[in-house]
Amino acid sequence: MTANFARMRSAKDFFRPLAVGAPTPLTEIPARPTRAIHFFDPSNPKMAAKIPGMVGRVDVLLGNLEDAVKADHKLAAREGLVRIARDTAALGGGRGPTQLWTRVNSLDSPWGLDDLTTLVTEIGDQLDVIMVPKVEGAEDIHYVDRLLAQLEAKAGLTRPLMVHAILETARGMVNVEEICAASPRMQGLSLGPADLAADRRMKTTRVGGGHPGYLVREDPTDGSGEAIHAARASYQQDLWHYTISRMVDACVSNGIYPYYGPFGDIADVVACEDQFRNAFLLGCVGTWSLHPTQIAIAHRVFSPSVQDVTHARRVVAAMGDGTGAVMLDGKMEDDASLKQCLVMVGLAEELAAVDPELKKQYDAIADQGEVAR
Ligand code: GLV
Ligand code: MG
Repeated sequence: MTANFARMRSAKDFFRPLAVGAPTPLTEIPARPTRAIHFFDPSNPKMAAKIPGMVGRVDVLLGNLEDAVKADHKLAAREGLVRIARDTAALGGGRGPTQLWTRVNSLDSPWGLDDLTTLVTEIGDQLDVIMVPKVEGAEDIHYVDRLLAQLEAKAGLTRPLMVHAILETARGMVNVEEICAASPRMQGLSLGPADLAADRRMKTTRVGGGHPGYLVREDPTDGSGEAIHAARASYQQDLWHYTISRMVDACVSNGIYPYYGPFGDIADVVACEDQFRNAFLLGCVGTWSLHPTQIAIAHRVFSPSVQDVTHARRVVAAMGDGTGAVMLDGKMEDDASLKQCLVMVGLAEELAAVDPELKKQYDAIADQGEVAR
């Protein structure tokens, strides 16, 4: 079925609440640091006990109710999240710059409806973003959009909740642009490599990251059997390049944010960093963290490096009014490279505003830069 513009809501209707008494929809998604979205199981007492101590140390804390939470813990997880939201709100200074998100159960599960109903009516004023898994098309977002408006009205919320969809089915991939455009609540998309691999029937058995079998090999020196079987350089390729690139375009063209998702090999901090960096370079603004060790990796990778910020600031200073071309260290810089540098400088400023350690590093180079110039 192709899009039928005659039947679509008008652009103006998009910014009217979908229920009487619900808050006015957002016209823009706020740019807040979301480098690491740290997943925790609110039904796990050991994990839950650590959460108050993590406030202020991670950009996003996400109470996970979906996969990785056992079926007979679903209710405890939902109730645990309500408790944690209230307890952390009561800390001196509340949660500060740390946002609270949740991942609810999928819309086809027996728990999804009650997750939304309970969380929005009990702690809707504490939540920033609701992550919806296994989103297949705009119809899933429309359902959540209307339901949230009803629940917001019932709870008397004054701020609309945002929605984040996980891209983890082939149909979701095919509909990615429509999903991003389906509601003004849409905040972003994450890649769900494990479910997506299963749905696509990719022949992998891991949670995110690459695969040693997915590679390209150097040509043989000639067509002889000896040359074919001789040692030849081979390079592992990125299984997720197409998917992440497509997700980035869909998000950016709709004014929302793209994220990598889970990296399951907690011990392999090196490959985790590589996967996160690939996503950062392709345009993602953050990733999930499944273990506290991944928070530091994500914060490091999704913050522009000191060298990049130094260079970007030099280009901005050298480009004056932003038009024309200049040579810096033998390289041509022009209006377009300036725009890339402005992305870096803008991101560095946003992050420095909430991360005092990072601010110190960026400020140190600003001072050195003054001396060098
Ligand atoms: C995440 O939910 C995934 O399926 O990878
Ligand atoms: Mg999944």
